[in-house]
Amino acid sequence: MRIKKSKIAKQLGLGLCALAFSFAAQAKDFRLGLITPASHIWTQAATDFAKDFEAASNNEHKVAIFPAAQLGNEAQMLQQLQTGALDMAFLTIAELTNRYPDIGALYAPYLVSSVEQADKILESAPAQQLLTQLPSKVGVVGVTYGTGGLRQIVSAKTVDKVEDLKGKKMRITPLDPLQDFYRDLGTAPIALPLSGVYDALSNGQVDAIDMDLELIIGLKFYDKAQTVLLSNHMMFPVVGVVSARVWAGLSDQDKENINVLMKKHLDKTFPLYVEKELEWEKALEQTGISVKKVGPEFFADAMGKWEQKWTKKTPVLAELREASASLKAQ
Ligand code: BEZ
Repeated sequence: MRIKKSKIAKQLGLGLCALAFSFAAQAKDFRLGLITPASHIWTQAATDFAKDFEAASNNEHKVAIFPAAQLGNEAQMLQQLQTGALDMAFLTIAELTNRYPDIGALYAPYLVSSVEQADKILESAPAQQLLTQLPSKVGVVGVTYGTGGLRQIVSAKTVDKVEDLKGKKMRITPLDPLQDFYRDLGTAPIALPLSGVYDALSNGQVDAIDMDLELIIGLKFYDKAQTVLLSNHMMFPVVGVVSARVWAGLSDQDKENINVLMKKHLDKTFPLYVEKELEWEKALEQTGISVKKVGPEFFADAMGKWEQKWTKKTPVLAELREASASLKAQ
């Protein structure tokens, strides 16, 4: 975040010294980083948030968006957020889970069975409680959740049954809950950032990938596949965060604007994914590759193993399962 000195000089020049200084001292250039490409729904939400936030400050503040990991991967961005070198980010829960394992419970297999349910579970008390812990555990203020849809599996070779995945090199986002799930499934998980996935699938570095529908279509991962398993096996939240250091120096009005406007734009990701998922599924069917819908029974033993491991790791899992059960019963 930078205070705009040029604005100070300009306004002093107008002779409005005292008033100008108080305005100028508040005007800030913020930076918001993401790993998703410019065309991704999260990046669009960030851009819309930036516009609204600037307008709410009477254009005193600016927010520059840095997509596609321009400021580094999420581990690097998190370090910058902790020191205050980066102001804001829209993050997956991957790096947050690596530092605060309880939040990994949000990746519980089949915690939800649709994006609508993901919306509701992320509003539930245990999920919201996780956000309140982020300042002390990770050094960021967790403003709100959005969604990246549900996870699917794209395989270079044909997959008819779970045994076809055994021993296969499976690309995952770098985080423990996914690693545990795919190990329990008998695959060899390989943590790879988004930017390396297409090449890895093309050159055989991995045999299959864990991915969401938006990117399967948007980045044409289906081009390198014979089978897509529409499994919807986990949700993939995004969290809007602000550096706790930066937050401490913000006015109450700025905090309120960030809270309201980040929520407004990340909330919109839920209905958007619901609508787009239908389009992406149709687009996938038109590619002519084999698309198979599978449910929890496909993953058989891996589900129970994951549950046992993560029940020991965090009490939040039981709370989320309870919230999910009451949701599904409605
Ligand atoms: C992934 O690592 O698969 C991913 C990261 C950000 C957004 C969507 C997917």
